[in-house]
Amino acid sequence: MCGIVAYIGKQPVFPILMKGLHRLEYRGYDSAGICIYNHNRLNIYKKRGKVSDLEEFVKDKDVSGTVGIAHTRWATHGEPNQHNAHPHYSQFEDLALIHNGIIENYQTLKKELIKQGRTFYSETDTEVLVQLIDYIRVSSRISLTEAVHQALSQVVGAYAVAVMSKESPRSIIVARKGSPLVIGIGKDEFFAASDASPIVEYTNEVVYLEDEEIAVLSLSAKGKPKMEITNLKNVKKVPLIQKLEMNLSSLEKNGYPHFMLKEIYEQPQTIRDSLSGRINMELNTVALSGVIDHKEKFLKARRIIIVGCGTSWHAGLVGEYAIEELARIPVEVEYASEFRYRNPIIYPDDVVIAVSQSGETADTLAAVKIAKKNGAFVYGICNVVGSSIARASDSGSYMHAGPEIGVASTKAFTAQVSVLMLLALALAKEKKMIKKSSLEQIVRAMYELPEKIEQVLKKDPQIADVVKIFTYSRNFLYLGRGYNYPLALEGALKLKEISYIHAEGYPAAEMKHGPIALIDAEMPVVVIATNRGNYEKIVSNIQEVKARKGRIISIVNEGDTEVKALSDFSIEIPRTEAILSTIIACIPLQLMAYHIAVQKGCNVDQPRNLAKSVTVE
Ligand code: AGP
Repeated sequence: MCGIVAYIGKQPVFPILMKGLHRLEYRGYDSAGICIYNHNRLNIYKKRGKVSDLEEFVKDKDVSGTVGIAHTRWATHGEPNQHNAHPHYSQFEDLALIHNGIIENYQTLKKELIKQGRTFYSETDTEVLVQLIDYIRVSSRISLTEAVHQALSQVVGAYAVAVMSKESPRSIIVARKGSPLVIGIGKDEFFAASDASPIVEYTNEVVYLEDEEIAVLSLSAKGKPKMEITNLKNVKKVPLIQKLEMNLSSLEKNGYPHFMLKEIYEQPQTIRDSLSGRINMELNTVALSGVIDHKEKFLKARRIIIVGCGTSWHAGLVGEYAIEELARIPVEVEYASEFRYRNPIIYPDDVVIAVSQSGETADTLAAVKIAKKNGAFVYGICNVVGSSIARASDSGSYMHAGPEIGVASTKAFTAQVSVLMLLALALAKEKKMIKKSSLEQIVRAMYELPEKIEQVLKKDPQIADVVKIFTYSRNFLYLGRGYNYPLALEGALKLKEISYIHAEGYPAAEMKHGPIALIDAEMPVVVIATNRGNYEKIVSNIQEVKARKGRIISIVNEGDTEVKALSDFSIEIPRTEAILSTIIACIPLQLMAYHIAVQKGCNVDQPRNLAKSVTVE
């Protein structure tokens, strides 16, 4: 993870870097640091903690200058302390470097460099890289660019890096492999960052660097900008300049106390956006261009494999249920991290769907690469436009949820499910597996989703009230059947990641195979009991919990009586088609987790130990 930002131009660099770090802080917040060139030296200031701690720390420092790099860290190697914070100097402070990723062979390289007389000041893998570049540069008497090429050819692992040098302060070198990096082209200035959010207010012209590409961003003595891109084999590349589509206000809290709450409340609109142009109101039908353009691949598919991590994996499970139910194509859902390492069987007539909000999750990206290598057709469902997974896929559909900043995924989940439901319907339609009238009915229900979500959002005060007494519970159980089972997993994940309360999600019927032993008067059990299917069965499961004095919080459809009567607390939500129910039912679960975390005084947007974009394995 980690966020990196770099600037070279004529404007004061400090505010650009700090604003950029704030925007990228969702990627990691163990420490933050900057390096600015002024008074003929590279000045590094770094601090353990948040970007605001760094801001406080540099208050009385000279941060003038127009060239600089900055980093917000999610530690992989070495404790989150000041020594290990980036940027890192080379031995004699001639170079400064920031890094996002992992250098896997750092120990071998470090040993060798120590033998050559280099001293290390941190426990990070990153410092090895800056020392290696410097060592090559000095011992072989070659240019910095050449040394960066040679050093990067020796490292195994993932990186997005930015390097500054005291000798050539009019240029910054950036490179990537595995971790994201985007370059912004302004007027006589360049920006580089882990995503476009630090760049968007200055320019909308960007270049997404490809794996193993190195870009030298420089200004001539007269201030003329120049960008030169080569790959590791020293082959020159012509940059593909793309237009950025990002709205600045989507990066602000707009009056909400937290990004997470703002993003929960955005869902009526984000669902509208993810469905827009893909369902046709007059004809009551669906059209997903990514599927239509590759119809044969899907129609001939032996099976579909959905890969993802965390919340995206949960969305994949909902996708599995819907695709199998509607299109009758066998679907497997795999954790990307397991899939990539377990030597999976992949047929050339498989379709692999990669689900990822960030489009940068290292394991999901690796799974995509394995699938492609084995000849499968890869379909990406990503939120971040131009992200690595989106670009590595053969085809795909964007979620159109807008930037998600809160570490806990909310609007991305409902957008992922919406796109997967569109995909299931599109496949069912192409395969002629669905009756016209059923398709029309579901499409009509899709139109009603935003309004129904708005109705649920109005219950926010009631939800905040219900969960008050559970703020200090130590455990939670979430139960659901059918489509509500993945939702039970998602509800539990939401709670544990932001409130640090242990929570588990289970298929309701599995409870009696073990977890029931945990139930006592101290155990709140959240039961998602929407949909008529399996209703009687879930009523029995609730009885089983009640018999052991568990406290039931249920999510039920309006008009429900039976489950409500058995529950300690109930939250009613509007009824919809079964395949769409998770999109509505997850809203109270998100709000429950949010309010519990706020009442516990947790940092909702930046929970401990986590980062938004997991670009390490
Ligand atoms: C969800 O709330 C998480 N913070 C996390 O599980 C996330 O969904 C996972 O890391 C996958 O990220 P991606 O969608 O960007 O690939």
